Amino acid sequence: MSERKKTAILISGRGSNMSALISAAIDPRFPAEIALVVSNVPEAPGLARAEEFGIATAVVDHKEFAGDREAFERALDAILKDNGIEIVALAGFMRLLTPYLVNAWSNRLINIHPALLPSFKGLATHERALEEGVKLHGATVHFVSAEMDDGPIIIQGAVPVLDNDTPETLGKRVLEIEHQIYPKALELVASGGVKLRERRVVFTDNETEDTSARGFVSPLSR
Ligand code: GAR
Repeated sequence: MSERKKTAILISGRGSNMSALISAAIDPRFPAEIALVVSNVPEAPGLARAEEFGIATAVVDHKEFAGDREAFERALDAILKDNGIEIVALAGFMRLLTPYLVNAWSNRLINIHPALLPSFKGLATHERALEEGVKLHGATVHFVSAEMDDGPIIIQGAVPVLDNDTPETLGKRVLEIEHQIYPKALELVASGGVKLRERRVVFTDNETEDTSARGFVSPLSR
């Protein structure tokens, strides 16, 4: 039998990255199986999308926990454990996590952020990239640490910033690369293809000669 890693995706919104992960995992050779989608927002459009794919869904509404972040996370953690989840992928999950959940899922919790970290943590990343005049922008998949949009970087994808870009056109280009790198990152984590060397994520099959550029995706490099 296959040993696909049971994976949960946590969302708050439309779930386009969730859909990219589910689509990749339809292939039975993909090392992760998407077993559950959980949202903290009951009306998140991504929930209906997950159901169309035939994936089990759950809602843990943070508003029911009266600002007690850890109580919210305990409820979330219980659902993940009840479902035998091994890896958690945050995909537009817009809640700051406390050390409680981060530590409970240490090295098994990944996130996608729409910027080349450590630049542009937080919100409105495309607006700020344009304001700063950067020429390269992109997205990052990383293991989650207790700080916001922080933690060892698994894969980055870069896109050019064009002179006539608006936050919308730039965001669309970045989202396309998000949909490419997130399945790659989940595949690497679920298959044991990467490991941590202090703060760096390195490839397990590349011990001696680290010449790999597999952590980087860009239309520029084609
Ligand atoms: C994505 O762009 C994701 O990178 C971002 O939210 C969007 C969710 O879209 N996440 C963050 O900003 C986390 N700091 P989606 O629901 O269509 O995947």
